[in-house]
Amino acid sequence: MTAPLIAPSILSADFARLGEEVRAVDAAGADWVHIDVMDGHYVPNITIGPAVVKALRPHTAKPFDVHLMIAPIDPYLEAFADAGADIITVHPEVGPHIHRTLQAIKALGKQAGVVLNPGTPAKMLDYLIDEVDLVLVMSVNPGFGGQSFISSQLRKVEAIRKMIDKSGRDIRLEVDGGVDATTAPQCVAAGADVLVAGSATFRGGPERYAANIAALKGCSA
Ligand code: DX5
Ligand code: ZN
Repeated sequence: MTAPLIAPSILSADFARLGEEVRAVDAAGADWVHIDVMDGHYVPNITIGPAVVKALRPHTAKPFDVHLMIAPIDPYLEAFADAGADIITVHPEVGPHIHRTLQAIKALGKQAGVVLNPGTPAKMLDYLIDEVDLVLVMSVNPGFGGQSFISSQLRKVEAIRKMIDKSGRDIRLEVDGGVDATTAPQCVAAGADVLVAGSATFRGGPERYAANIAALKGCSA
């Protein structure tokens, strides 16, 4: 089985030393940096805005995987694109026209991702799959790090893997929430190729990051 790409969620990093934390996970083998943007409205937590994304940009050349949990969303796409996002991923519930929002992200020259919450069926992708570069399956309800993995989402990952293969397009399939060394292989077996991991990357402090990421990839460091 091919090792998945690992995208540490900096939600679990030390916010007082964010630049250093990004450099540390980069050096420890992270493939992408996952940035959780929350507004206290679409989700009950408030985190990071475009100014912080911009400040972090010089700290790594790895792709910034920006997961927007904000409503409204369209007025902020350009700010996150300008700040240095490479992939911008959006929840369909946050605006009236998800198809248009995905097109707007691509018009900004960025990769477009769509996110399915635990209660959202795979079928929602039927008329969006041709517009996306990435599908993100939430294996927790969005809002907080450190929650438990919802196993029912593995069936959804399997269903989406089939849809992606059938489409013949190069679309990444990412899982986010409660991913650790136990659930990571389950996600990969179901067809995921990118795993977000907050707590499982950052636990134990910087001297553990390389081993934590290696464990998520399915090898020991
Ligand atoms: C939840 C976020 C996740 C979260 C993952 O809304 O989208 O990215 O930070 O954290 P862990 O890996 O700790 O579940
Ligand atoms: Zn996320």
